[in-house]
Amino acid sequence: MSGGGASYRVTSQRRVGGAMQVPGDKSISHRAMMLGGIADGVTEVEGFLASADCLSTLNAMRAMGVAIEETGPGRVRLQGAGLHGLKAPKGPLDMGNAGTAMRLSMGLLAGQHFDSVLVGDPSLSRRPMERAARPLRTMGASITTTDGRPPVHVHGGQTLTGAEHVLEVASAQVKSALMLAGLYAGGPTSVTEPAPTRDHTERMLAAFGVPVQVTGSRVTVSPVIRLEACRIEVPGDISSAAFFLVAGALAARDGLVIRRVGLNPTRTGVIDILRLMGADIRVHPAGLAGREPVADLEVFQSDLTGIAIPEELVPLAIDEFPVLFIAAAAARGETVLSGAAELRVKESDRIAVMAEGLTRLGATVEVYPDGLRMQGGPLSGGEIDSHGDHRIAMAFAVASLLSHGELVIRDVENVGTSFPDFPGIARGIGLEVGVEGAAGRGPHG
Ligand code: S3P
Repeated sequence: MSGGGASYRVTSQRRVGGAMQVPGDKSISHRAMMLGGIADGVTEVEGFLASADCLSTLNAMRAMGVAIEETGPGRVRLQGAGLHGLKAPKGPLDMGNAGTAMRLSMGLLAGQHFDSVLVGDPSLSRRPMERAARPLRTMGASITTTDGRPPVHVHGGQTLTGAEHVLEVASAQVKSALMLAGLYAGGPTSVTEPAPTRDHTERMLAAFGVPVQVTGSRVTVSPVIRLEACRIEVPGDISSAAFFLVAGALAARDGLVIRRVGLNPTRTGVIDILRLMGADIRVHPAGLAGREPVADLEVFQSDLTGIAIPEELVPLAIDEFPVLFIAAAAARGETVLSGAAELRVKESDRIAVMAEGLTRLGATVEVYPDGLRMQGGPLSGGEIDSHGDHRIAMAFAVASLLSHGELVIRDVENVGTSFPDFPGIARGIGLEVGVEGAAGRGPHG
């Protein structure tokens, strides 16, 4: 077992239901801190996800002189420093577990007049950073990684030029880093992606008054003089809702409602994949949160069937595979995933770590470099190591709806990076997640 003090003890159950809401979207919360920080004027954010990951971004912007006030639950007010108003931080910027914070910051910092150093926790320190550094260098950025990984040194005072990027990997983080650097470049910056990825940066830049042009798979951002502060409403995170979509498909005999979930079409692969497996998910549109569509989701218990997951859906569900593998374990027949090598460089190697946990509970899993093949079937109780990966920990909590016996999930403290009150919200719909050994917290976290 890897380190980390806290564990979940989840008793085996067969029923969930009711109505719930998930916390704010992580990707959008990061971007709100960065763009609000470099805007002119006051940006008010509502629905901000105050999780460890997004607080890393908030603290980094603070360390560079942005006045940020948390005015209530989920409410943040930023007095923007202006496009050229950030100040040199006094020390390294600690991005914790957050890949998004680090890679987007590389783009933002490339255009500053000062040097900065980005560091992270042991998981982030193992993740590839050259995928962002390399294309940024073609714009004139001066960035040094440590054997391709953090710490990352960004040397300021460079003159950036616009560039035409064609990405090999479908990555919203890399695309966004290049667009942020593009704000500081001498001409337009274009990014063509091999497959559509989340477009929150594009939408939010437009909300801050930056002209963004999208033509097919190519997005172009032009340098601007200023960003105009605005109001940002952050919708519920579909990546957090995904755990409950699967829980509902497994055990919501009378239905489960998840309110005000962000339904950006670049994020809805999880709904498409679950529906292909036979899940009964109903979408009730509920307007817009800023420029992001929102809906109430309703899910009912259904008999799931294994499928070959269409590769074009992989980038649109990239963070949801841990819990989709739990759905596959509940399905009749075989599920096959391919074209998902990116899962190996997330907070953990999500193919290897999920296969390890599922095998421990008695599932038959065959692992490939870019995916896996697994048979649905009953799971036993047992002990699982999340390897410090928040989404692995939450996925196995959902597996308790399938398992014959209690599950103990080790090393769960990083759930706080994306979903601080996961145990409480899970208990609210009938998933009995007990927390043990959490430093400074009660027995129920
Ligand atoms: C994110 C992009 C994705 C995703 C991550 C959040 C973002 O990463 O996995 O959780 O906010 O841009 P990649 O760009 O590495 O695919």
